Amino acid sequence: MANRVRVASVADVAPMQAIVVQAGGRRLALCRVNDEFYAIDDACTHDNGPLGEGELDDHQIECPRHGARFDVRTGAALSLPAVRGVKSYPVTVTGDDIFVDVP
Ligand code: FES
Repeated sequence: MANRVRVASVADVAPMQAIVVQAGGRRLALCRVNDEFYAIDDACTHDNGPLGEGELDDHQIECPRHGARFDVRTGAALSLPAVRGVKSYPVTVTGDDIFVDVP
């Protein structure tokens, strides 16, 4: 059963930015695309690059280490050198609070 964890306020994440948050002992990249929020693992599957420091381009985030791209909605890997996706987590926004469901 998932635990719903408050990870940030809406104001903590500027549009088209990602921040790193902690939930359930994991480091997550919390990404804001316009007014939608998505959470994926912070570690790139290629070589553990910090995805939360990556650049967002629409629903894609680019790993700052070697440029692999992931879909923040699903965690799917979209380009080399990553071939495996990252895990994604459900996000809920209630008022100003952002929650992530983690196992
Ligand atoms: S660590 Fe992310 S592309 Fe290499």
